[in-house]
Amino acid sequence: MTDADRAASGPALGGRLLTLTAGGPAAGGTFVARHEGRVVFVRGTAPGETVTARLLEDPEEKADARFWRAEALDVLEAGVDRVPSVWEEAGVDGVGGAEWAHIALPAQRRIATEVMQELLRRAGVSSYPVDEVQVEPAPHDADGLGWRTRVRYAVDADGKVGMRGWRSHEVRSVGADPLSARAVRELRLGEWTAPEGTEAVDAVAPSAGPASVVLIGRDLDPDAVEIPESWGDADVAVRTAKGLVPLRGDGTVHERVGERLFAVSATGFWQSHRRAAELLSEVVASGLRAPRGGSAWDLYGGVGLFTAVAAEQVGRDGSVVSVEGNRRASQLAAQNLEDLPQVSTATADVTDWVRARRGGVDAVVLDPPRAGAGVELMGLLATAVRQRIVYVSCEPATLARDLAAIEKKGWKIVDLRAFDLFPHTHHIESVVVLERASS
Ligand SMILES: C[S@@+](CC[C@H](N)C(=O)[O-])C[C@H]1O[C@@H](n2cnc3c(N)ncnc32)[C@H](O)[C@@H]1O
Repeated sequence: MTDADRAASGPALGGRLLTLTAGGPAAGGTFVARHEGRVVFVRGTAPGETVTARLLEDPEEKADARFWRAEALDVLEAGVDRVPSVWEEAGVDGVGGAEWAHIALPAQRRIATEVMQELLRRAGVSSYPVDEVQVEPAPHDADGLGWRTRVRYAVDADGKVGMRGWRSHEVRSVGADPLSARAVRELRLGEWTAPEGTEAVDAVAPSAGPASVVLIGRDLDPDAVEIPESWGDADVAVRTAKGLVPLRGDGTVHERVGERLFAVSATGFWQSHRRAAELLSEVVASGLRAPRGGSAWDLYGGVGLFTAVAAEQVGRDGSVVSVEGNRRASQLAAQNLEDLPQVSTATADVTDWVRARRGGVDAVVLDPPRAGAGVELMGLLATAVRQRIVYVSCEPATLARDLAAIEKKGWKIVDLRAFDLFPHTHHIESVVVLERASS
């Protein structure tokens, strides 16, 4: 395909081709370039390289815009960090979700470190030496492959299973799918044709028990699903507008962390990297230090991963409340931790729940979705928590905002660790430990 063909066929509004030289990283895995003085955020490139890029904006319509966006089509002069992509099917005109697959893994972590430090600086975080923050690999993750234990595949009108392209609705083949865990790849969903009405397929490779496949579609008929041989002994369910209908198994998967087994809904939240649950549990445990016989809250608690950590620390004479908005996850948290009398669960919006509390708590762990906890909740916690807060985050931009907010309320950061739990993408996981500035 020539550049001109690509310019005409891609998702671009504009499609004009520019020659750009990429500089430092910016939001969303892009890099900053300049064209006639205007900033252009370029996807699919790497620092220091010169590329032919397709503008995603119509330059006539966006003549007054402060910046434009573009995606690299051809590399004219490769940067030192460029390597052959680990995922041929990702990238320009390919599947989304692996936007750094063409960048060497150590360089990805160096770039993520720059992004993280810059976001903290820009938010005005001041109680911690931001220059010391480094994005660390997960233990024993040498190549950043085979880590993804939760994968949502898209399905097109013909039943083809794949992933959507970046800014595109077209379902594209995932090929070798190298970021997915082996048990997910072995399902060979890309070679299977989904029954009519399937809108998406969730595949899970849990750490205990069989894999799971869930076909998702509002009006799917569970009786019409034939389970192919390639799925082996995987659990299978169908999720329609009426709810989850298990065809094989009970609609949950099982995850082992240390000695404990957690049941998780087959379509529910669990940390995706195969080493994440164990690693984050250890880092939360060392930061939280909830006092024996004391009290703790696990906010955005899911099925109770960090509740178990806090419960172990406070012991049977203490108390831990796991607060979670999803009813099914909350029920599973209660079931997963039923041997721990110090644990109770609340199904509620976290901010509403904390706002309604009278009296304080010794220690809090919170692990919100990408939107972060928000300034109101940080203010409530600044008052309610007596000793320590551990903030687990998958979105450094909202984390930085929330840290700056709680610093203004008299708290300081005593530890900040960042982890590459999403290799070959720009996403970063972090764990921050906070104490009262006067302590
Ligand atoms: C990033 S997950 C963390 C779950 C858990 N800590 C874990 O590691 O398995 C965020 C959780 O917050 C829940 N959630 C999102 N928004 C919420 C809200 N406003 N109030 C309560 N729970 C919420 C989601 O259902 C999800 O289970």
